[in-house]
Amino acid sequence: MSQQATRERGAAQDGAAMATLTARGLVYGCDYNPEQWDRDVWREDVALMREAGVDLVAVNIFGWSHIEPEPGVYDWSGLDEILDLLHANDIRVNLGTGTSSPPPWLSTRHPEILPEQPDGTTRFPGGRQAWCPSSPVYREHALRLVEQVARRYGGHPALALWHVSNELGCHNALCYDEDSAAAFRVWLEARYTSIANLNAAWGTAFWSQRYGAWSEILPPRATLSIGNPAQALDFHRFSSDALLDHYRAETAILREHSSAPVTTNFMVTAHIRNLDYWTWAPEMDLVANDHYLDHRLADPVSELAFAADLTRGLAGGQAWLLMEQATSAVNWQPVNVAKTPGQMTRNSLTHVARGADGVCFFQWRASRQGAEKFHSAMLPHAGTDSAVWEEVVELGATLDRLTEVAGTRVQADVALLFSWEAWWAADSEARFSGDVRYLDQVHAAYRALYDEGVSVAVVRPGGDLTGYRLVVVPSLHLTRDAEAAAVEAFVAAGGHALITFNSGIVDETDSVRLGGYPGAFRDLLGVRSDEIFPLLPGQSVTLSDGATARTWTEHVRTTTAQVHATFADGPVAGGPAITRNAHGAGTAWYVATALDADDLRALVRDVVEQAGASAPGAGLAAQAGGRVEVVRRTAPDRAYLFVINHGTSDVEVPARGLELVTQDRADGVVVVPAGTVRVVREETQP
Ligand code: GLA
Repeated sequence: MSQQATRERGAAQDGAAMATLTARGLVYGCDYNPEQWDRDVWREDVALMREAGVDLVAVNIFGWSHIEPEPGVYDWSGLDEILDLLHANDIRVNLGTGTSSPPPWLSTRHPEILPEQPDGTTRFPGGRQAWCPSSPVYREHALRLVEQVARRYGGHPALALWHVSNELGCHNALCYDEDSAAAFRVWLEARYTSIANLNAAWGTAFWSQRYGAWSEILPPRATLSIGNPAQALDFHRFSSDALLDHYRAETAILREHSSAPVTTNFMVTAHIRNLDYWTWAPEMDLVANDHYLDHRLADPVSELAFAADLTRGLAGGQAWLLMEQATSAVNWQPVNVAKTPGQMTRNSLTHVARGADGVCFFQWRASRQGAEKFHSAMLPHAGTDSAVWEEVVELGATLDRLTEVAGTRVQADVALLFSWEAWWAADSEARFSGDVRYLDQVHAAYRALYDEGVSVAVVRPGGDLTGYRLVVVPSLHLTRDAEAAAVEAFVAAGGHALITFNSGIVDETDSVRLGGYPGAFRDLLGVRSDEIFPLLPGQSVTLSDGATARTWTEHVRTTTAQVHATFADGPVAGGPAITRNAHGAGTAWYVATALDADDLRALVRDVVEQAGASAPGAGLAAQAGGRVEVVRRTAPDRAYLFVINHGTSDVEVPARGLELVTQDRADGVVVVPAGTVRVVREETQP
């Protein structure tokens, strides 16, 4: 067995909590909101859950106003009955602490808990999550509720997992009120110890911003001009930490009363960026993620694969849990696109192929009322006589047949660095071009690898790169010294690196690295740029190898690098656009522009090949008339080949062994019909 299976490291989980959950097989579950329904519906629900194979149900996610209808007055009747009913039917409970949305009585009595926007306006109750993460009053009431819930249910036999709050920071991550200002000051004092250090780190010599006392510092509220970018960056860090602190506070109470594992649902998904999950993940007993296909993106399908790979990275390569996804449409995008037949299964098994040992949905039964009444569910408005229900039941059976996959690890030869703080810094108001957005560049690099059939491990900058053949570093605008050093050491030891423009520009205080771009990577790459020449929307440039690029060009001079391609036209015509530098025993590539997708893909193909990285899915798209994902999950004693055919024609993939979805043998080849997934337990390990 290669070392690949154990390469990804970084989080504290040892896999034990997830392994306990999957002792009976891959988890199949959902959010369930019985408070929206009469009791006679509950019985039907539980019977249908059993029919579908659902075995983990999240309840009390938005339960606060039901279980504490008046301050200090508790009504457990509904929750008692639901937990007992689920338990009697052998369905385990993923129990919400219920603190996600405070009841109206709390915000009426204590309007100071409400969140405030940068312009000082308040956001009111009527939606959800209307609380300031730094509000001591909210915290006190929330923890009092957690104490009650933990005491009552901490030893309940149905309890399998604690679900702290819900999607912490989905709406309220950044709050600018007085409570936040006070907490921000405490956080800054701990970080900088003296106001002089803070002035130096924030560059307050600029525009007369020098602070004389902590009390003068505010959150980055709305300003007339561009605000201080270092202040904004620290406010992001602080806000992520403030919610993590809330998570810790709830968890500490749960642990006093219960030995069940604790987690919360992350939002590794395209439009959410306010929490640095690299700092959160080590505190979870297991990593759980919510993912929704986002049709506002150019390529939602490869984004799903990226999110799954990133979630596995957060789990340190261990198995993780898909806590929420939609069976079909969501309700919160401009146009809520429904899934086509088979798509829900492909999406689900993409997550499984990339390390999820469980698939859960929001939600069990489609709501009749409320903001999400048109969000899909496992049991749609139409009831069981529906295509969605049929696919839900079929997926349950498929997951059953994949039981033995649980606990195996995903193989990948290529690492891609991803950083939330680089995202915050790159997309700040003080930038070269508003058209250069961090996530677009990450997605572009990932998509090129995905389309070349390469499996990717997403790694925290500075994380362990041992054993990978190639590290891809897309637009890592903020790069810490140690992060650059880790890439340098990897290349020096014989690895390959592919670094794209807008990397290494600033340090952790958001101060520009002097002496030329791309600052932190200049020596490794053997290049030095003295000026960036962004392109206007609609402009493009051509490269000497015929490639087309947009958005960004720069005036690159090589120091030790060789030129792979030059700009043939545009503001820096004749200058290097793609370079390659021998460094130690390895090679470092630099791409000084945003290549169009096909051209980036062609470059990635070359680099992957030269690095000797495997590409198990290469070349299948033409056969399928669409994309085909091929991912391998392994353990020391077994290997599974996942093939996900998004195309319109069948594909044949070399494989030998039992195919688990159909239970047919693959004798040298597995046929994967258009739109379906096949998983082969391989007889001969690669
Ligand atoms: C999130 C929330 C759920 C629900 C879904 C809808 O994931 O956690 O409560 O609102 O979004 O897509």
